[in-house]
Amino acid sequence: MRSYSVGSAKPNDIHHVLLSEEQISAKLDEMAAAIDADYEGKELLLIGVLKGAVMVMADLSRKLKHTRTSMDWMAVSSYGSGTKSSGVVRILKDLDADLTGRHVLIVEDIIDSGLTLSWLISNLKSRGVESLEVAAMLRKPEAAKVEVDVKYIGFDIPNEFVVGYGLDYAEQYRTLPYVGTLAPHVYEN
Ligand code: XMP
Ligand code: MG
Repeated sequence: MRSYSVGSAKPNDIHHVLLSEEQISAKLDEMAAAIDADYEGKELLLIGVLKGAVMVMADLSRKLKHTRTSMDWMAVSSYGSGTKSSGVVRILKDLDADLTGRHVLIVEDIIDSGLTLSWLISNLKSRGVESLEVAAMLRKPEAAKVEVDVKYIGFDIPNEFVVGYGLDYAEQYRTLPYVGTLAPHVYEN
């Protein structure tokens, strides 16, 4: 097995690289081109969901060439047992921006059950937005509990826990430039 030693990741912690840095970057180019085409001449507010979306937000926003953007952040926590989300969401950090009359794009790292995002969409829609769409880097179709309308999607991936490119396991591995699965020994520690 190849070893990957980046940031906090120890060699052999990553079992399998699902998406390389190059694949992610190429996909973000496509997503940015689509967003640029749709919002050209408009002012777009990008809303990132902390913390997982920081890498997607940083890279996607810098690839937008024709859209005037500003950025805001939200932190939410989903009540649930263990790693399963319940759809009951608590706001840990709310937006600074007023959404009235704004074109808004939610920027997400990953859609799993879709429960968090569907809650977020209805919450933001109730704030008087002019338009609201979603861009997500990853989606696990097999895990979907609710259908969420995602206009810009990066990759559909298998229903496995993944880390890297913003995604963590116990706050580790966020800084990996690629997305991968963890070796079983990591969970055993
Ligand atoms: P739901 O189920 O509401 O949850 O769509 C979405 C949130 O769950 C987290 N999540 C993951 N985090 N690797 C992670 O590091 C994963 O494979 C994974 N799947 C879901 C993430 O915070 C996401 O926003
Ligand atoms: Mg997230």
